Amino acid sequence: PGVRPLIAGNWKMNGTLAEAIDLARSVAAAPPQKADLLVCPPFVHLVPVAGALLKTEVALGAQDCHAAGKGAHTGDVSAPMLADLGARYVILGHSERRADHGETDATVRAKAEAALAAKLIPVVCVGESEAERLSGQAESVVATQLAGSLPQGFAAAGGVVAYEPVWAIGTGRTPTEEDIAAMHARIRAELGAEGAGLRILYGGSMKPSNAAGILALPNVDGGLIGGASLKADDFLAIAKAV
Ligand code: G3H
Repeated sequence: PGVRPLIAGNWKMNGTLAEAIDLARSVAAAPPQKADLLVCPPFVHLVPVAGALLKTEVALGAQDCHAAGKGAHTGDVSAPMLADLGARYVILGHSERRADHGETDATVRAKAEAALAAKLIPVVCVGESEAERLSGQAESVVATQLAGSLPQGFAAAGGVVAYEPVWAIGTGRTPTEEDIAAMHARIRAELGAEGAGLRILYGGSMKPSNAAGILALPNVDGGLIGGASLKADDFLAIAKAV
């Protein structure tokens, strides 16, 4: 559909402060792209990166938020705090958070509600394990994750879904283009009428050499890039492949 693609960099837990600022500046120095650009630094680098991105076209996002707006939650960060410092997006339910922090679909849904209430755009991640793919359950697993993780009105509010097969993250392996297209079509169909305007990103070992093929697939509206987002040249080469 006629949605503007989104190329998002998830920096995960990488980089010094100086490297974060440098990377943000290099991304922002690129000429306007056919896609919206988003970078998601670690929490501690958000404020200085927000400064580096001021008056640029590159959007800022966080990698998580708490489901509560404020309160006694030591070590956590709320969605209103992220909005206040200039973030526009927040990644939620990444498989690394589901694995490292026991986040469930219900947790992710509560966080997505908090994000929407704070006027942040949630990027909710879903994706099957390798065992689930091999046993033919990939699409049903993802459908279940979507049903449990997305609040009512998610797509209408501008929410983004990222399909990230767990076995493709950081491994150099990707599903076939046919499998990616099939999954993205399924994701759009699962959202019903609301799905028409939904941006669905692919994530998992995207790099300059495979980006053009993946980004040209029907129902692929951009990418969520991990490793390759840590090098401005690679990240921008992926954006140019849109
Ligand atoms: O959020 C990004 C994904 O986990 C993809 O990571 O590009 O390093 O495989 P990757």
